[in-house]
Amino acid sequence: MPLSGRGWTVPIGIFNREDLEVNAFVRRSAAPRATENRCPPNLTRRYVRSMNPVFDIERSDDAPAIDSMIRRAFQEQSGVADMVAAIRASAQYEPGLTLVARQADQVVGFVMISHAELVDDEGGRHDVLTLSPLAVHPDHERHGIGSALVRAVLSLADARSDLPRLVTLEGSPLFYGRLGFEFAPDHGVVFDLPDWAPPAAAQVHRLTGYDPAVRGRVTYPAAFALAEG
Ligand SMILES: CC(C)(COP(=O)(O)OP(=O)(O)OC[C@H]1O[C@@H](n2cnc3c(N)ncnc32)[C@H](O)[C@@H]1OP(=O)(O)O)[C@@H](O)C(=O)NCCC(=O)NCCS
Repeated sequence: MPLSGRGWTVPIGIFNREDLEVNAFVRRSAAPRATENRCPPNLTRRYVRSMNPVFDIERSDDAPAIDSMIRRAFQEQSGVADMVAAIRASAQYEPGLTLVARQADQVVGFVMISHAELVDDEGGRHDVLTLSPLAVHPDHERHGIGSALVRAVLSLADARSDLPRLVTLEGSPLFYGRLGFEFAPDHGVVFDLPDWAPPAAAQVHRLTGYDPAVRGRVTYPAAFALAEG
């Protein structure tokens, strides 16, 4: 059964197709990080070798598992799970850019790209994409799942020429810098960051066909305010 939204459809289970380049890419990205020396000592080599997370577009019946996994990952920010539910119910949702990682049928990772806007100095508004949140279950961190989810969702966004060509996010430049994100002000994109965030948290990823004229201050839809709760 297809998921539908914003006037287009995408088949569920697309990542299960053997020939889908993105899935092969994800598996290549995830596998090298699941090496013995990155694992806590209580994980056996056999367990690590058996790790083979499946990456998939979220299904509607995934919502409760995603909600509880996000609450585990963002322990002190329960509002993030509420934000995800609100984005899903909004016009800014992109169902084909909301991915889960499954391990033995358990949801262990999640990433969402949805829509936001840049407002330029003349008051002009530009549709952009924004990546938030990214979450990996605490028991499954440091196996490459978070990085693989980001690479996968960026590849899917890049292939969608109907979508804006710029992805914004607020996050660690150490983590996202190696995934192709750059310092946002270098590309004319300004964030109103929280007081505790360093300026380098403001980042953008330029997709194929990026237009440098798309500049301005990031303005989030109302759903994002819930993340502070
Ligand atoms: C951040 C998160 C998604 C990373 O997922 P993951 O599957 O462990 O990530 P990967 O295995 O692909 O990469 C792990 C690398 O990211 C680094 N990393 C993880 N969290 C980081 C952070 N907050 N800041 C900087 N680096 C971080 C680790 O040091 C690790 O690098 P190393 O193994 O070379 O030391 C996961 O830790 C998480 O869900 N955290 C809680 C929620 C959160 O903070 N989300 C991000 C919001 S922007």
